[in-house]
Amino acid sequence: MDDLRDTYLARIADAADEATLEALRVEAVGKKGAVSLKMRELGKMSPEERQVMGPKLNALKDEINSALAAKKAALADAALDERLRTEWLDVTLPARLRRQGTIHPISQVTEEVTAIFADMGFAVAEGPQIDTDWYNFDALNIPSHHPARAEMDTFYMHRAEGDDRPPHVLRTHTSPVQIRHMEKYGAPCRIIAPGRVYRADFDQTHTPMFHQVEGLALDKDISMANLKWVLEEFFAAFFEVDGIKTRFRASHFPFTEPSAEVDIQCSWEGGQLKIGEGDGWLEVLGSGMVHPKVLQAGGVDPAEWQGFAFGMGIDRIAMLKYGIPDLRAFFDSDLRWLRHYGFGALDVPTLHGGLSR
Ligand code: DAH
Repeated sequence: MDDLRDTYLARIADAADEATLEALRVEAVGKKGAVSLKMRELGKMSPEERQVMGPKLNALKDEINSALAAKKAALADAALDERLRTEWLDVTLPARLRRQGTIHPISQVTEEVTAIFADMGFAVAEGPQIDTDWYNFDALNIPSHHPARAEMDTFYMHRAEGDDRPPHVLRTHTSPVQIRHMEKYGAPCRIIAPGRVYRADFDQTHTPMFHQVEGLALDKDISMANLKWVLEEFFAAFFEVDGIKTRFRASHFPFTEPSAEVDIQCSWEGGQLKIGEGDGWLEVLGSGMVHPKVLQAGGVDPAEWQGFAFGMGIDRIAMLKYGIPDLRAFFDSDLRWLRHYGFGALDVPTLHGGLSR
């Protein structure tokens, strides 16, 4: 009996988990356990022997049972301690940083441009980035042989062998949105169309994908004077300089007649570019009065309607406004750059709240 007692108490003390403990319980005090088997032997004993052995066996059984219960409680305590230790949390740690991600300067500038034109009554229109060559070229009065097609470094989509239809293109400018909008909504209209455009060109000032914003305003008596006022309003608001000077230079685009390229006033003092002062000029967009053939292609009667259009590089005006020297940095996904040049997610640009703060 002493052997039984020492063995089981030692093994109970060593048990590492509840399953081991339960196995020990069955083995020691279960129905067919060691102590129970001993108890069965009581029957074969003399009454004197039984009187001594009976209480001893019962006491042994009780002792093992309470050792089991105590160990079980100790294991549960240890498990709880372990859990508390591993699930420990330092509630005094600083909260998560307020600015985890940032708004990309191009998204920010697109929002700024949209806010300014919305204030002048322009709605936002969209078109597909993969378009037919009809929308991208023909409808804009750029026929197949036209040099402008060759100059655009167009990306053509692949067509299956034997499919003779002209290939789709990655739009080379946002101008096809003019046609799509006219087809759908006719005249009068006042829209801008910001979005991605694509050309096979890559250096410090060109990336194969970049951003433009198109403008289109049609009505009965819209003139170049309206165009000039709208653009000057835009530049003053965008660059946050009152009375910024613009220069309209005669130019040529197939989709406008007359056409003008527009420069804004700037200075280059000590290698530092300043917009809205000095006597230098920076080209920022192309524009003009919408060509009658373009109106026709959009299903708008040129005898009844006329208007202006313009196309501006978003990346370029973003670089100018925020002093970003290399266009390619926009698309490098360098986190340090994004944190430096990015904007807070809650700084939504509005005219009354400030555009860039
Ligand atoms: N689509 C021209 C380009 O990508 C820009 C442009 C010029 C758009 C004159 C116009 C416009 O709407 O009138 O170079």
